[in-house]
Amino acid sequence: MDFIHYGKQSIDQDDIENVVKVLKSNYITTGPKAGEFENAIAKYCNVKYCVVVANGTAALHLASLALLKENDKVLTTVNSFLATSNSILYVKAKPIFVDITKDGNIDLDLCEIELKKDSSIKALYGVSFSGNMLNQDKLKYLKETYNIKILEDNAHALGATYNGIKAGGCKNSDCSIFSFHPVKHITTGEGGAITTNSKELYEKILRLRGHGIVKTEDMKPWGYEMRELGYNYRITDIQCALGISQLKKLPSFIKRRIEIAKKYDEVFQNTIVNPLYTFNGHSSYHLYIVQVDFDKLNISKEELFLKFHEKNISTQLHYLPINKQPYYESLGYGDEKTPEMDKYYQKSFSLPIYPLLTDEEQDYVIKTLFEILDA
Ligand SMILES: Cc1ncc(COP(=O)(O)O)c(C=O)c1O
Repeated sequence: MDFIHYGKQSIDQDDIENVVKVLKSNYITTGPKAGEFENAIAKYCNVKYCVVVANGTAALHLASLALLKENDKVLTTVNSFLATSNSILYVKAKPIFVDITKDGNIDLDLCEIELKKDSSIKALYGVSFSGNMLNQDKLKYLKETYNIKILEDNAHALGATYNGIKAGGCKNSDCSIFSFHPVKHITTGEGGAITTNSKELYEKILRLRGHGIVKTEDMKPWGYEMRELGYNYRITDIQCALGISQLKKLPSFIKRRIEIAKKYDEVFQNTIVNPLYTFNGHSSYHLYIVQVDFDKLNISKEELFLKFHEKNISTQLHYLPINKQPYYESLGYGDEKTPEMDKYYQKSFSLPIYPLLTDEEQDYVIKTLFEILDA
């Protein structure tokens, strides 16, 4: 059996043919396919605007440039990939790390406590952790009551819905981002997108993607103006052709992810392996995370990881607490009280989940997990 990763892309012949068509065309960098991909994402997410970019981190950077000012305080989660809070630092704003709830998402009640304590907090960056969107009623309430900007990092959650609200639809947030890294729901190799319903944010993000350059019809034929400091965060049409092709398959990808998740849920019932959450009808399952009480077992989490690896299976810990990373500690973070994250960190690990994972491979993962834990 081949090595089983915790996540992997699903690319078929049709995807390859779509990419080859672009390679044979006149445009290979950002051209008509980028616009087509943006329209397809906007339509899928039920949102007005979309900008596709080089990767999810670039999406977060551009969103932060558009949303934040230097020294703005921003509530964010300890449990995410580093890019979420790094993007706050990129624009010299200040992350305030908040603990999580039992499902791994940022604790919005604790956010409210912080907002009550400090009226100078300007924004909230939440992550739809593992594919599970944030409580939209609570987001709406926080946005309206405290007049803050909200970014939803939906890198894990393309295809998720919450009471009819699509991830990326920005019904209760200013903007949302996606990543198209190969372990995510759809891939473009590297890639990302920002969605928003605000024309102003959209235009700013679009400008910043291309060096801050503006070109209008009243300018000389060769004219352009750089009006602010922007970047080259463009994505190629080669990648966008893959993205468009992949997006068409998203419903079937999610269906398969849910099937895999439900099978794990069922097998782990009444065992020492506890799913982070069982099927809730709205997660699009980027990750399937389980928790085990290692204190009560003869095996440590480190041994479990190594044994899994010996058996050709990769597991991962999503994530290490961001505030305790050496760089963040050098900025004075790390001492925040995060009891839920501490517990989560002790017990959790991710099991393989991706559309091409076969039933046999999933059975092998389950059998191997129990063999390791029984030993
Ligand atoms: C929650 C989250 N946000 C942002 C990113 C950054 O995306 P990218 O790797 O495309 O830059 C990731 C990627 O792993 C992520 O998981």
